[in-house]
Amino acid sequence: MGISKDGQKILAATTAIDSLIKEGKIFSGMKIGLGTGSTAMPAVKRLAQRIEDGTLKDIKAVATSFQTTLACEELGIPVYTLNDRAINGTLDLAIDGADEIDPDNNLIKGGGAALLREKIIAYNSSNFAIVADSSKDVKSLGTGFALPVEIIAEARVPVIKALEKLGAECVLREGVKKAGPVITDNGNLILDCKWKSPVNPHEMEEKIDGIIGVVECGFFTKIKPEVFIAKSDGTVERR
Ligand code: 5RP
Repeated sequence: MGISKDGQKILAATTAIDSLIKEGKIFSGMKIGLGTGSTAMPAVKRLAQRIEDGTLKDIKAVATSFQTTLACEELGIPVYTLNDRAINGTLDLAIDGADEIDPDNNLIKGGGAALLREKIIAYNSSNFAIVADSSKDVKSLGTGFALPVEIIAEARVPVIKALEKLGAECVLREGVKKAGPVITDNGNLILDCKWKSPVNPHEMEEKIDGIIGVVECGFFTKIKPEVFIAKSDGTVERR
């Protein structure tokens, strides 16, 4: 039967934190970006345990969402913004989850609607690590998990038209236990976009981010993360 998806998320997250500590890539005094979602959360918890047991001291975290800020506050991880003087706009490492990972470690992110801050934090970090269960490991991007695109509400119709010209079918993301669309932590809307055949994620990231009214898209292709993928047999692939 093997390890469940939830078990794999915990395995990937704890393995990543412990290995990165052992290798000196997570270290006392560092500035760390913390991701959003059900795989990033066990990583945040593991980090908190390693602070509590005295392994790590003086960690400065920047959170990618309200969810992660709340978790840091509850777990006692000191949380800053990217603009605070103590952070000064750059991080040593960002650790996060992903919705899909292709063989070149290009990503789709934003299933939790946090892609904008996730990308700002990842693209301003010296190192980037992704933790995931095996269901996220795919051959190509564009046809499976719908690409989240954060947009300015005022530009919804022209942005949808421009995305359709790029071959995408777009659905406005609806809230759960809230009437109407999802509003992101930044006050914007999310379009979930799918193609009939796989796309070149690097080209598509450039094209989508060039559309007026798009704030950011969930393709992450410009920095390559180190990926920790847990398998149902209890192993963790690192690539
Ligand atoms: C949030 C994200 C998440 O990292 C992504 O959706 C994966 O989430 P989970 O680990 O819960 O499957 O990009 O915006």
